[in-house]
Amino acid sequence: MMNDKQILQSAKLIAQAQVITILTGAGVSKESGVPTFRDALEGLWAQYNPAQLATPSAFKHNPKLVWDWYEWRRDLAGKVSPNAGHYALAELQQLKEHVYIITQNVDDLHEQAGSKDVIHLHGNIATHKCFASCQGEPTLIDISTLKFDKEAGPPACPHCDAHVRPNVVWFQEPLPAKQLNQAAEYTQLCDLMIVIGTSGMVNPAAQLPEIAKMTGAKIIEVNPDDSMITPIADIKLTGASGVVLPKVIEVLDES
Ligand code: OAD
Repeated sequence: MMNDKQILQSAKLIAQAQVITILTGAGVSKESGVPTFRDALEGLWAQYNPAQLATPSAFKHNPKLVWDWYEWRRDLAGKVSPNAGHYALAELQQLKEHVYIITQNVDDLHEQAGSKDVIHLHGNIATHKCFASCQGEPTLIDISTLKFDKEAGPPACPHCDAHVRPNVVWFQEPLPAKQLNQAAEYTQLCDLMIVIGTSGMVNPAAQLPEIAKMTGAKIIEVNPDDSMITPIADIKLTGASGVVLPKVIEVLDES
């Protein structure tokens, strides 16, 4: 378990750091009620087979199934609120200059908590685009302007015959180049990376802490369990981000 000494050490590293880059994953939104991907019992992946749902070929094969699943997740993401972990990170951005957030999450809970310029590596579930990117990548489409039967699966793109799809990154797809380049830049720049709520199993996001470490940055990990990142963490804060992060920020604020 995390102890007061580790909290103090973390606050000290944060106080001393010139550039802090934060990488978040599904765990940071768990206390808001968004299931993580790989929790054995309650994660989204436990109920559904990702190979059937989160690939371009799955969408081609069964657009309605994939569309319905993402609409369900979009609906859920639209109902939840940021938790104490998101707010603590937004406060850190207020307390210090040069604090950058990179997230693998497709929700906007960091922004709702007040964080600025969040880099979304895996897209945004609240938005949609043309499956064929007919007007260039991404061809964003506001589905509220389309007339379609919500029970009948994805609507057609207003510019071409292709389906509308969620604006998220699927397996077998490249990450958006601009966001990935920016994430790589902040990873090279930082002297402290805080990795929160990610299993570290999906590349290239999972490589960012490795790169930060190789370029000399310290690594703090916040996670109730061990992850692929744990072996390279200088400090492992074992616990839920909604509990751990406010404690660290409180100590930092007092120092
Ligand atoms: P995972 O579901 O793989 O991992 C979630 C991590 O959060 C685990 O290590 C948990 O131990 C940890 N966790 C659980 N509760 C927590 C809490 N309260 N506070 C902090 N940590 C907690 O999610 P990601 O690593 O984000 O990609 O998954 C990475 C990517 O895999 C996702 O973005 C998604 C998925 O396939 C795409 O869809 C492209």
